[in-house]
Amino acid sequence: MKGVNLKGRSLLSIEDWSSDEIRFVLMLAHTLKSEARKGVKNQRFAGKTLALLFEKRSTRTRCAFETAFGEEGGHPVFLSTQDIQLGGKESIEDTARVLGRMFSAIQFRGFKQSTVEALVQYSGVPVYNGLTDDSHPTQALADIMTLEENFGSDSGVKLAFVGDGRNNVARSLAMISAKLGVEFVVVGPKELQPDEAFVQKCRTIGRENGATITCTSDLSGVENAAALYTDVWVSMGEEREREARVKLLAPYQVNAALMEKTGRKDCIFLHCLPAVKGEEVTYDVIDGSQSRAWDEAENRKHTIKALLLATL
Ligand code: CP
Ligand code: NVA
Repeated sequence: MKGVNLKGRSLLSIEDWSSDEIRFVLMLAHTLKSEARKGVKNQRFAGKTLALLFEKRSTRTRCAFETAFGEEGGHPVFLSTQDIQLGGKESIEDTARVLGRMFSAIQFRGFKQSTVEALVQYSGVPVYNGLTDDSHPTQALADIMTLEENFGSDSGVKLAFVGDGRNNVARSLAMISAKLGVEFVVVGPKELQPDEAFVQKCRTIGRENGATITCTSDLSGVENAAALYTDVWVSMGEEREREARVKLLAPYQVNAALMEKTGRKDCIFLHCLPAVKGEEVTYDVIDGSQSRAWDEAENRKHTIKALLLATL
C-alpha cells in the first residue's frame, strides 16, 4: 500500500476514501487484532483526546471508540446531546470551533450527514462518522474485515444485504463493495431499495474495481451468496414507520430456509447489531453456527483502532 498517508484525514463517508486507503486501514485492523490476541500493549494515543458526540444511542460504536482509544493512553470524552449544546442553544459551527481547540479528533453519531460535514469544516481536526441517517462507514470496515477473515479476500465475494436497502448500513456496504470489488446485491421490496442516483454512482465506481451492484425484490438474489447480511427493519429515528416496515419486510426475514437458498454450506450470516431477533432474523440463524455477528461486533474495535491510528 505504497504512498497511503491518512494523517489528519476524516472519515465522513466511504465514498471519500480510495480503495487503497480503505485496504490500508483493513490491513492494519487485522494486525491490531492479532496483536490484541497476543496481549501486546501500546500507548499510541498518549496525550491525545477524542470527543465522542452522540445524538442517537449506541453500544458497539461508543464502546469501540472508547476502549480502542483509552487502552492506548488516549482520553475519550463521551458527550451526549443531553449534556452539550449541539445545535440547541449553541450552533454546530460554534461547538465545532470550541471542540477543535480542545480535542485531537471528534466522533459524531446522529441524524444529519451535514452535521459531520460542519464539524470537519469548523473544528479543524479529524472527524469520524459513527452513523448518520445516510451512512455508517466504520461499520462497513468491520463488515469487510469479517468477510476477509472468513473468505481470505473480499474481491469477487458475493455479499447479499437482505431488508431495508435504503438505510445507512446498506448504503455504506454498497459503496465499500464498489470500492473493493465485492459482488453486492440488495434483496428487498422495491419501496426500500437505495435510490437510483446512488446505485448508479456505486456502479460507476464499481466498474473500475471489478464490483457489481444489483438490486432485486426477488429472494433468488441470495443464490450463491457467501454472506447474508441484514439490519433492523426500523432504523433509529424512523419509529413511526414501524407498521408499514413490518408489512413490507416480513417476506425478507433471514431464516434457515433463506440461508439454505444461498446453496452454500459455507455461507455466513452478518448483522451490524443491535438485532430484533424474531423479526429481521430468526434466533436459530443469529445464534447458530453460521453466524459471525459476534466476531463482526468485536471487529468494530479493531477497525476503529486502525482508523484512529492511521489518521491521528
Ligand atoms: N452496529 C452499531 O453501530 O451498533 P451500536 O448502535 O450499538 O453502536
Ligand atoms: N440502521 C440502523 C443501524 C444501527 C447500528 C439504525 O440506523 O438504527
